[in-house]
Amino acid sequence: MVQSRNLILAFESSCDETSVAVIEDGHKILSNIVATQIKSHKRFGGVVPEVASRHHIEQITYCIDDALAEAGVDYTDLTAVAVTYGPGLVGSLLVGVNAAKTVAYAHNLPLVPVNHMAGHIYAARFAGKLKFPALALLVSGGHTELVYLKGPYNFEIIGETRDDACGEAYDKVGRVLGLTYPAGKEIDEMAHQGQDTFHFPRAMEKEDNFDFSFSGLKSAFINRVHHADQIGEVLNKNDLAASFQQSVVDVLAEKTVKALKEFPVKQLLLAGGVAANQGLRARLDQELTKFDDVELIKAPLKLCGDNAAMIGAAGYEAYKAGIFAGLDLNAEPGLEFDWLEK
Ligand code: KG4
Ligand code: ZN
Repeated sequence: MVQSRNLILAFESSCDETSVAVIEDGHKILSNIVATQIKSHKRFGGVVPEVASRHHIEQITYCIDDALAEAGVDYTDLTAVAVTYGPGLVGSLLVGVNAAKTVAYAHNLPLVPVNHMAGHIYAARFAGKLKFPALALLVSGGHTELVYLKGPYNFEIIGETRDDACGEAYDKVGRVLGLTYPAGKEIDEMAHQGQDTFHFPRAMEKEDNFDFSFSGLKSAFINRVHHADQIGEVLNKNDLAASFQQSVVDVLAEKTVKALKEFPVKQLLLAGGVAANQGLRARLDQELTKFDDVELIKAPLKLCGDNAAMIGAAGYEAYKAGIFAGLDLNAEPGLEFDWLEK
């Protein structure tokens, strides 16, 4: 029985990755098993909730066994169980929530409920110690937010998308380019071989708030491609990708810089699936050289997408903050950050 270290068994099943991890003291990954279902969803051009839920059920017990075995620990070594309970697909969330509740009940362990988006932010913890106040740029397939953290596990959304999430725009544009789902990584790679020749709009850059909008850019892109199709014009796909990405990165960077000027912070945290974007990472590196006392902490590339390690890191903070759930914990597909504000 190991008592000196805090070991969290973490679960993530909000969308199309079944993942279980063992995290020591909130920042050391002993194991992080991720069973991805992307191949099953690719042919449908997006995640099919019913298919996702069935895959989670098939994978979850293998993931638990592998996570414990790889970490070299037993249930009796664990301190707590943490689980994503929202936001996400209800049928997917329920699998992780029920597995976590079962382990907590069977082994008499505290159950820690974790917001998926808090998990994404805490993926940055694996790249360095977090210092507060901090600002997080959270860019994923479902969310695009600027989140102010006054202290550990204290979240306040100061800006968000008014329409499409950033990753969602990447995936929709990717479909028009004939790419398979999810298209973000491929567009990022194509962008590096093209030029911004199309000059798509930069939405809301001039507006005096921290909100984002990507639907205008998406429509401009789609209209340009359809127009070219109609008149038989051949467009350079790498240039299209580069132009789209430049517009996205300009808007994200400009809004983030504006927020950094208004909210003095010690760190900028970059997290979420789109945080893997090389253009965005490089641009923020460059922007942050203008801020002497703000450190940029980018979630490690491997932990930008959905995984249970980040839920373990966030779960550790929630555990320390005394946030626990009973065995009546339910999945909350539309969960927001509000309840976490103190
Ligand atoms: O955070 P995530 O794994 O899932 C959600 O919680 O939504 O994010 C997935 C999103 C997808 O839309 C995918 O296309 C996008 O992240 N993505 C990227 C890159 N890698 C993944 N977008 C832009 N550039 C990338 N390199
Ligand atoms: Zn996610």
